[in-house]
Amino acid sequence: MKNLLFIILLPLFIYGDDFISDYEYGGMLYENPRGVSCSKCHGKDGRGELIATYKEDGLKKELKGPDITATTLEDMIKSVNSFHDVMPTYSLTNKEIQAIYEYIVAKKK
Ligand code: HEC
Repeated sequence: MKNLLFIILLPLFIYGDDFISDYEYGGMLYENPRGVSCSKCHGKDGRGELIATYKEDGLKKELKGPDITATTLEDMIKSVNSFHDVMPTYSLTNKEIQAIYEYIVAKKK
């Protein structure tokens, strides 16, 4: 009888609302957004990261992913859905982008 109860309740533990928190979900998407990790270019906490250095006309140049900690949700949705020279195009839903946004906001605190 005890085992039966366990089997009935198991899905609740697996699929329950707080199996992973919104923060963890946003973090997972930020690290693995079905494509190249955002953190590779924007840093672990969204404060920006050096992507590469190169030389142009004998001058040392830096390619950086910008700080995105002050970006609004609206701008983030626009950015992630549009074409850029360096940043890849993603196919994330607005909800997924919102989870990433909230993760970065929470990290900032
Ligand atoms: C290959 C590096 C790279 C990856 C990966 C990347 N970005 Fe970017 N991102 C950039 C660069 C560089 C820019 C500046 C625009 C440009 O030149 O592409 C940018 C711009 C942005 C902007 C606009 C910032 C501003 O100041 O207007 C946002 C928001 C953003 N990225 C969010 C993300 C998110 C969220 C992800 C993951 C889903 C991501 N980026 C993945 C390199 C990257």
